[in-house]
Amino acid sequence: MPAQLTCFEPTCRTHFSVTEVLYNCPKCGGLLEATYSGWEFDPEALKSLWRARRVSNAPLDQSGVWRYREVIPFLENFDSVVSLREGNTPLLPGPAAARYGGLDRLEFKHQGFNPTGSFKDNGMTCGVAQALRLGMRRVACVSTGNTSASMAAYASAAGIEPLIFIPHGNISYGKLAQALEYGARTFQVEANFDQILALVRALAEGLGIYLLNSINPFRIEGQKTIIVEMLDQRSWSVPDWIVLPGGNLGNTSAFGKALRELKSWGFIQKIPRLAVIQAEGAAPFYELFQASGRQRLQPVGHPETLATAIKIGDPVSWPKALKEVEESGGTVGKVSEQDIADAKAVIGKCGIGCEPASAATLAGVRKLTAAGIMRPDADVVAVLTGNLLKDPDYIYRYHTGQLDAPDGARIQSNFANRPIVVPNDPGKIAALL
Ligand code: F0G
Repeated sequence: MPAQLTCFEPTCRTHFSVTEVLYNCPKCGGLLEATYSGWEFDPEALKSLWRARRVSNAPLDQSGVWRYREVIPFLENFDSVVSLREGNTPLLPGPAAARYGGLDRLEFKHQGFNPTGSFKDNGMTCGVAQALRLGMRRVACVSTGNTSASMAAYASAAGIEPLIFIPHGNISYGKLAQALEYGARTFQVEANFDQILALVRALAEGLGIYLLNSINPFRIEGQKTIIVEMLDQRSWSVPDWIVLPGGNLGNTSAFGKALRELKSWGFIQKIPRLAVIQAEGAAPFYELFQASGRQRLQPVGHPETLATAIKIGDPVSWPKALKEVEESGGTVGKVSEQDIADAKAVIGKCGIGCEPASAATLAGVRKLTAAGIMRPDADVVAVLTGNLLKDPDYIYRYHTGQLDAPDGARIQSNFANRPIVVPNDPGKIAALL
């Protein structure tokens, strides 16, 4: 299958070889995407083949990314693939969360079930495969924590060196702990995510290190399979809405690309509406979507949110994300720290749980139904991007009434579940029961 890198800018669309080390178009500076010419599979036959692969013991088939390898055909062979059995994440009904969100029903596609606990693993297995194919020995990323955890695991499993750059003091300990344990050289930089991305890009180019941020088009290819697996699990019934949190906007780009390709290749007849939800203190994409003309994203200089995964003020993939949201007939929402905290506790009480950024989805759904944008009977899938245990400090503070927003305001613990301190006395404990 001839694969190319193609400039995303409609006025440029220049093609480059997939074996060139490029992150932006050398002609116009636009974002790049993988494109495929002569894609010639029978969708119905593939749907059956993908089902059949679920009972296979072959590592490629057991991966919830490489099982769907026909929709990400950028490799010539699979010699460079390292799989930790990523993907394979469940689609879970959350009736109580649906009621809270103003919906009759709501399903969660829980990417926190991935090997390193976030959706980044879907993309990272592809990014690292591409790094190996190119003969790279070192890979780097800046991260709010999940990309770095994932890259550390996949690079170490592949026997290449992970170099991680994170904003000092601004990522959760769960994520930092993962990077250290998976053996990454970890630099805590005294700057924010957007500043560090510029720094790492310059370093990577100068030192011949392969960059694995979501600007890397091969990571986007892997994240497409979140959508493919979800539709496979729904027997190809297309929901009305897919809701996801927005940070650097790589995932929004991946979901939109997946849906467009699946439609053009004949797997689905319609495209669901994408609803991207940002935290109020880090909502440049929301502001762009509201602006007349939607010309240029205005970066937020000092993004602030306790949902540190999406604490990003200058998202690189905004041009792609804007096109995808617009083409899907979707929308962009923003939610407060209080909204996120409460929605997160509600998702937890469903027995599901997630990290703060993921809970922006349910908080967003609640606002969209209240505004009449999302109908109560809509068929909605919310994507939970990270595992509950990524940020236990936030959880303990919320449930014990000690969670403060970045501006210092105390967050109301409306769904608090306080631990109860008791003496070692069966009588007194029985009285409490
Ligand atoms: N949810 C979680 C849990 C994340 O870690 C991220 C991004 C997002 C949502 C937003 O996804 O950037 O594709 O819009 N985390 C990145 C990181 C930035 O470095 O781990 P996006």
